[in-house]
Amino acid sequence: MKNILEQLSENVGKAFEEAGYKKEAGRVSVSNRPDLCEYQCNGAMSLAKEFKCAPIAIANAVTEILKNDPAFEKVEAVMPGFINMNISSEFLADYIKKMASDEKYGVDLPESRTIIVDYGGPNVAKALHVGHLRPAIIGESIKHILKFMGHNVIGDVHMGDWGKPMGLVMTEIQDRQPDLPYFDESFTGDYPKEPPFTVRDLEEIYPTASAKSKEDPEYNARALEATLKLQTGVRGYRALWDHIINVSVSDMKRIYDKLHVDFDLWNGESTVQYLIPDMVKGMKESGVAYESDGALVIDVKKDTDTKEIPPCIVVKSDGASLYNTTDLATIMERVEKYDPAQIIYITDKRQDLYFEQVFRAAIKAGLVSDKVTLSHIGFGTMNGKDGKPFKTRDGGVMRLEDLIRDIQDEMYSKIKENKEIDDAEARQTADLVGLSALLYGDLSNQAVKDYVFDMERFISFEGNTGPYILYTIVRIKSIIAKYKAQGGDLAKVSIGVPVNASEKELMKALSSFAQTMAAAEAELAPHRICAYIYDLANALNSFYHETKILTEEDENKKGEYIALIDFTRKVLETCIDMLGFSAPDRM
Ligand code: ARG
Repeated sequence: MKNILEQLSENVGKAFEEAGYKKEAGRVSVSNRPDLCEYQCNGAMSLAKEFKCAPIAIANAVTEILKNDPAFEKVEAVMPGFINMNISSEFLADYIKKMASDEKYGVDLPESRTIIVDYGGPNVAKALHVGHLRPAIIGESIKHILKFMGHNVIGDVHMGDWGKPMGLVMTEIQDRQPDLPYFDESFTGDYPKEPPFTVRDLEEIYPTASAKSKEDPEYNARALEATLKLQTGVRGYRALWDHIINVSVSDMKRIYDKLHVDFDLWNGESTVQYLIPDMVKGMKESGVAYESDGALVIDVKKDTDTKEIPPCIVVKSDGASLYNTTDLATIMERVEKYDPAQIIYITDKRQDLYFEQVFRAAIKAGLVSDKVTLSHIGFGTMNGKDGKPFKTRDGGVMRLEDLIRDIQDEMYSKIKENKEIDDAEARQTADLVGLSALLYGDLSNQAVKDYVFDMERFISFEGNTGPYILYTIVRIKSIIAKYKAQGGDLAKVSIGVPVNASEKELMKALSSFAQTMAAAEAELAPHRICAYIYDLANALNSFYHETKILTEEDENKKGEYIALIDFTRKVLETCIDMLGFSAPDRM
């Protein structure tokens, strides 16, 4: 089904045609002066030159025709040649009714494509910290948006699980527990099933080992040797590495679960190592890669570049592969296995240049055809109130788990403060609402921008926050519950023509869902959905304050109100689902 702007544009386009102009000039947009009108068309402005007349003359002619169009309540030509319009209540109600009976609420689905979203990007053996929040929740939301739009979406966590950090951890374990069989190369038996460490141990082992390696060259050399042993497949090192992965991954899953983040693939840098030798060989043979100072590189600069784009290094001078190499091999594997139309990477924007190099190298080396879109969403930093990257109170790196718990605890106290509510329910509600505060506080910002983590603001039930959206949904749920208790039946009600301004405003707010989704998809932008639901929640609450819903005497009108707010609830819930959270029944 056509979205409301397309429908209105069709009507206005016909009027242009009737007046003797091309119908393309009838493109309607939402008014940028809502104090003057609801929609506008600027088409007359561009025609004036071609027809050598004043734009207002064209606008006047078209307006005369549009005055007879029942889609509009008011049409006005204003200087120097704009057409200002208000939509008629009947036309709007008709659109909302069709929207409500459409499975996708009026969104015209694009052709379905296979899209891989590479997000999360945690590193094994290191604790998830606040820096892992954004790649996880932005990626998860983009995945949901694309799924809603009918695409076949595959989310891959792409863990860092292969390089020197692994060697460091193993070296430290060896120093602490030298008798473990993993380090005995003559050992041929079965290795223990139980890991020789816990996840807490690992989180402490890695930083300790990393610090030692910087001070002690001998230790560092042993770490490199351990890395090499793992990478060349020495049996004991592989077995120990398996333990590291298992322990780490199950802990990551536990924490991602708290964020409602869920990956289809738990692949990592290790997954594609087997492809690297042949890939490198191919690049050498075809001549795309050449030797420079002992390293193997691909030139990726273009004449059109405005800044310096250095070559992409494929193999270092010591023969080791690196982050780039793995990403190139991963592209190869993804193309081979899933034939995606697009691969989207979500990382800190400091990796912008890096991905530009990798994408160009992948195309140049023919790992991917130019039909595949490679996109990078680079996000900004979550800062503290001091404007610097968010830290714990004592200046340390905050664990992601602690951040989630803190906001949920705050929410718990807030909920307990106001109400007699039993503990278990308060906890459950606080977890949902606290999560909404965290996710919405982040996703409502354009991803590329830095933002300030402001706990008090995020958890507020008022203003542009997650809890405010949930509060609005809960308000609707409670009205509906009362309506049912009065004997009302949702199956028997349907949306009607609005009878007052706030009811019309609510319908107008609803009506831009399809445009919002198209923009959210095109720009891979969850913040578009946040802006939409904030407007929608405001419109719902104004309507609620200005309308006696449950005490409306006209049963038929009451039913229409109920149908409208219940549809609003559905749309809000669909939207928050795409942001990664859900609403409780009460709060
Ligand atoms: N592990 C990486 C890091 O910590 C992020 C991975 C992002 N994805 C990718 N395909 N490179 O920076």
